Amino acid sequence: MSSIPVVAVVGATGAVGREMLKTLHDRGFPASKVLAFASAKSAGDLVPFGDDELEVHELKEDSFDGVDLAIFSAGGATSTKFAPHAVKSGCTVVDNSAAWRMDPRCPLVVPEVNPDALENHKGIIANPNCSTIQMVVVIKPIKDAAGLERVVVSTYQAVSGTGRKGMDELERQVRDLFNGRDPENNVYPCQIAFNILPHIDIFMDNDYTKEEMKMVNETVKILDDPSVKVTATCARVPVFFSHAESVNVQTAKHLSARDCRALLSQAPSIAVLDNPREGIYPTPLACGGTDEVFVGRIRDDESIENGLNMWIVADNVRKGAALNAVQIAEELLKRDLLRVPDRDAFLS
Ligand code: A2P
Repeated sequence: MSSIPVVAVVGATGAVGREMLKTLHDRGFPASKVLAFASAKSAGDLVPFGDDELEVHELKEDSFDGVDLAIFSAGGATSTKFAPHAVKSGCTVVDNSAAWRMDPRCPLVVPEVNPDALENHKGIIANPNCSTIQMVVVIKPIKDAAGLERVVVSTYQAVSGTGRKGMDELERQVRDLFNGRDPENNVYPCQIAFNILPHIDIFMDNDYTKEEMKMVNETVKILDDPSVKVTATCARVPVFFSHAESVNVQTAKHLSARDCRALLSQAPSIAVLDNPREGIYPTPLACGGTDEVFVGRIRDDESIENGLNMWIVADNVRKGAALNAVQIAEELLKRDLLRVPDRDAFLS
């Protein structure tokens, strides 16, 4: 690798890809060159990068020649097909899709939680699911302080989690309804405007959705602790940005709500907003466009001995996707891990 890396963003025209470019720019990520890739239909388009614009190139198998780091957010199929070619070219990949998350060769990393997992990477590092990221940032300090036995989470997820098309569908349906037209459902299985859908991603054989099982399996992988029991219900709500989560945790040792508030106030990347009588608690609207994970409504669970309830909100496009991916890239650089030990590791 040259001393200052050449960086590529794959999916640069999408909701997360654009935020990745903005995050790389705003955090001053050291790059000798930044390249933007998307599908053939976007070739020649321009995407913003600070005060400049970058020309979008069609993604091809040989796009990664001379690229040191590629951050992907172009869906699982694109990552499955192209990330191995990137590695073959000697490029380290940080992938935001679900394609590589549970692959034992790929670390699944939230830098505040398990940065050491990067040490033995083989070329592809997976960025976790947005809902998982904001939850593990909060439950890790609780686990370290009091042990963690069980987590019960219910999510309220924004439409930006579905990308540009999810936001467009909510906006179009609201317009249609206010103009007396029947709203069409093209992206979601039923109307999302003024509704809540307990259905994110496909249903699995056990009647959970794939999104719910991602939260279960990814949390265990990130915490590297199969003894932690996790169960999830994920819902899509008509909100543009920021996912909210109601989280109930059962700890091994007693941790009072007051001590939990104090603990989380000191934890990295967390902002405690918890004075409900003064109307202080996190909401998706207020948390949009920010980098922190916000926690409020911290309460003792009076139905069990060592239980806590809380409400966690974060911008799903930032900490839930683009920011976490760029933080992984920063950590790789800091640890001098921007290298590929075996270029054939992912090409069968
Ligand atoms: P494009 O705009 O050319 O379709 P979102 O999640 O907001 O829908 O964005 C998805 C991103 O993934 C877009 O940048 C999209 O590019 C990109 N993408 C989708 N399919 C491909 C592909 N086959 N090759 C490269 N980029 C792709």
